[in-house]
Amino acid sequence: MIERPPARDRRLPILEITPPAPTAGRAAPDPADRRLGEFRPETRALPSFFVWTLGCQMNRSDSEEMAGRLLASGATEAPTMEAADLVVINTCAIRELAEAKVIGRQGHLQRLKAANPSLRVVLTGCAVRERDRHGLEHRYPAVDLFLRPDEEPELVDRLGLASAQAPVGAVGATTVVGRTVVGVADHLAATRAAAVAGGSVQRGSAVSAWLPIIYGCDKTCTYCIVPFSRGPERSRPFDDIVEEARSLAVAGFREVTLLGQNVNSYGHDLPAESRFGHIATERWAGRRLDLGSRPDLAELIRAIDAIRTADGAPAIPRLRFITSHPWDLSDRLIEAMAECPSLCEALHLPVQSGDDEVLRRMGRQYTTEHYLERLATIRAAIPGITVSTDVIVGFCGETEAHFERTLRFLEAVGYDQVFAAAYSERPGTPATRLADDVPAAVKRRRLNELLAVQEPIGFERNREWLDREVEVLVDAVARARSHDHDGPAPAGEGSGAEEHRGVQPGPGEVALSGRTRGNKLVHLAGHPDWIGRLVTVRVEHAGPYALRGVAIA
Ligand code: SAH
Ligand code: SF4
Ligand code: F3S
Repeated sequence: MIERPPARDRRLPILEITPPAPTAGRAAPDPADRRLGEFRPETRALPSFFVWTLGCQMNRSDSEEMAGRLLASGATEAPTMEAADLVVINTCAIRELAEAKVIGRQGHLQRLKAANPSLRVVLTGCAVRERDRHGLEHRYPAVDLFLRPDEEPELVDRLGLASAQAPVGAVGATTVVGRTVVGVADHLAATRAAAVAGGSVQRGSAVSAWLPIIYGCDKTCTYCIVPFSRGPERSRPFDDIVEEARSLAVAGFREVTLLGQNVNSYGHDLPAESRFGHIATERWAGRRLDLGSRPDLAELIRAIDAIRTADGAPAIPRLRFITSHPWDLSDRLIEAMAECPSLCEALHLPVQSGDDEVLRRMGRQYTTEHYLERLATIRAAIPGITVSTDVIVGFCGETEAHFERTLRFLEAVGYDQVFAAAYSERPGTPATRLADDVPAAVKRRRLNELLAVQEPIGFERNREWLDREVEVLVDAVARARSHDHDGPAPAGEGSGAEEHRGVQPGPGEVALSGRTRGNKLVHLAGHPDWIGRLVTVRVEHAGPYALRGVAIA
């Protein structure tokens, strides 16, 4: 139940940034000095900032927006935390460990502040929840300013850096969802659109772009902090998203990933419009929603896919979305996935457990039977699609028999990749009312067992690509690690090194890496200017976590 009290104005505390003292010992230049022509006065009135981002793609996307706002206000980016006057920490709270990482850096930050009294620290992201606000200063003693995720657009204003170019923007207001106070945050869609229109989003890659389509989460997974951190679902307006996609196409991006905690529920909160009159999807689980005449993810994918070049090819050759909740995975979406050439043949569909009793306690709203039915429909519609998932081991009340069923489930599905994590109790979530009764050592053992079961399955999936030609979007000079997911640890994270080592660059070549449409990591030798290009590669070697091949075109 969402109650929306009238938006209340909050007082807007401004964090004062004191300009650093002029560098000691710098004497006024001698007017006769020949180098005067090159002299740049050292007026560092605006801070240099460093953004430390933890957590998922949503956080990375939010950090791109914050960095863009800071740059637009005239601040500059510092290469390290140690060199910055302003440190912005974008936190994750999905597991205790994620929060502990930042808590553990407080001493370091306090030492940096002692050495540089003008240093200011801002903490935002999912660790900043309204109901725990009073405890934040105690947990994060080095922090000067806390912003909830929905308050991030206020960053520049709160730092007193707003200018004519970056006028005072959103002012936060709160609402109550259940018993949780969260930001109304209806500003997020508008401030995003303004940032895109103003060209200020500081994208981390020139090849692949994140595109947020829905903020927050309305699901009721009992273990999960996200609905409390991110608030209720708010979809961005359809045309804003298509416009952002168009601008990404014009800017030459080759890959766009639509982002949301649950992209499949995109659009249910938008007004009905006659142009979407043909949409009449029924939601089969959870809260009954009137989805008629509202845009959905399928419609959005079709609209972005329809942005074409003069020769009729999709202007953005690769379109992805993350994450999908099985309960909202509609037939309309599966049809759009099958029919749109730009939509990549890869799906991340978190299952969390292979046991129905555990799923019920997790509040996931589907059974394994339903999950398997959706998966069979998808696999029939898109043969060869790669499928990855998330699993939590050691959830409250998980017995050996429950866990065994999860292992058998992984074997039955044959996932390409599994991201697994041990259950971590999160304060304020419904699962705190259940006993966290699986001992830590048992959680660890189950995690290792699960990874050991999955490794040969992933290996077998990769071997299916041997001797085949694949299209690789080259995106980096190769790293030895296969890691593109900040959720649970991918099974065998850090592996794939063997495929990297096996690359033998010729003269003028370097070791490169990229992804297939199925999101498989591929190592290859090639020219550095291939980054951003789609290259045809023959797969010559498959490991459990990566492929290696030779460019043939
Ligand atoms: N919205 C996404 C998940 C985002 S969180 C979805 O529903 O799929 C990413 C993953 O973190 C989840 O899929 C889950 O596997 C894991 N996770 C969430 N809360 C957790 C907790 N309390 N302990 C351990 N893992 C958790
Ligand atoms: Fe968390 Fe569930 Fe929402 Fe995913 S769908 S963010 S797991 S509450
Ligand atoms: Fe973490 Fe928040 Fe993402 S809790 S996983 S950063 S939505």
